[in-house]
Amino acid sequence: MTAIILLGPPGAGKGTVAEELARKGYGHVSTGELLREQIRQETPLGLAAKERLAHGKFVSDEIVVGMIRDLLEHAKAGQKFLFDGFPRTMVQAEEFDQLLQSLEGTLDEVILLECPDDVIVARLSGRRVCPVCGAVYHVEHNPPDTPGICNLDGSELKLRKDDAPETVKKRLRIYRERTAPLIDFYKNKGLIHAVDASLSIDQVRRAVIERLG
Ligand code: AP5
Repeated sequence: MTAIILLGPPGAGKGTVAEELARKGYGHVSTGELLREQIRQETPLGLAAKERLAHGKFVSDEIVVGMIRDLLEHAKAGQKFLFDGFPRTMVQAEEFDQLLQSLEGTLDEVILLECPDDVIVARLSGRRVCPVCGAVYHVEHNPPDTPGICNLDGSELKLRKDDAPETVKKRLRIYRERTAPLIDFYKNKGLIHAVDASLSIDQVRRAVIERLG
């Protein structure tokens, strides 16, 4: 099994890039989406995580690493995974290393999506998501065919609770405190490749695909 990580602040476009790579055969693993699915299904894990997500706080390392362990232990040999939003603390990064080692997997590359805060705030205020299938749109940069309606299942699009401006500021602060240290961690392993994520969706997707080949 091989792994690629998409690292970057909230709203940098990790999910948008991952959607394209999933079409190229990568298994897309978004811990945010896995957690939102638990919330939609009202599982005990989802009920425990719901308030933390709404307020932009991280879910515990134990829960998140547990979800990833379950997933990887059931993976097929030779599968390629793309991690979006995981790991995002030093504990998660270290535990992920150990998990890959124990499963004889390798981490091939960490793509760092770099994007200034003002661009992020504009992106997240225009983001609309499908509450049923999780598809992501932007009112200007990636609009649905019919305004406010999901192309895939016709549901009414919503704002994500954690995209309220005050919550976005908090998420950016937490990213700097708890996730940004991973940049040096992976730089020291020679795995980081930075991409300018403030460019258009097509340009960013192309830059990542060219890099991964
Ligand atoms: P998660 O869902 O992972 O949120 P995030 O990391 O904050 O990232 P986002 O989904 O907000 O942004 P993105 O980078 O994917 O951007 P997107 O492609 O959508 O996590 C949510 C929560 O779950 C966390 O806050 C935490 O509570 C919990 N959680 C998750 N993982 C965890 C973990 N490992 N540990 C602990 N807790 C965890 O793009 C944003 C918008 O911009 C869209 O509208 C898109 O259409 C648009 N757009 C994208 N790219 C471009 C571009 N190049 N140009 C113009 N517009 C663009």
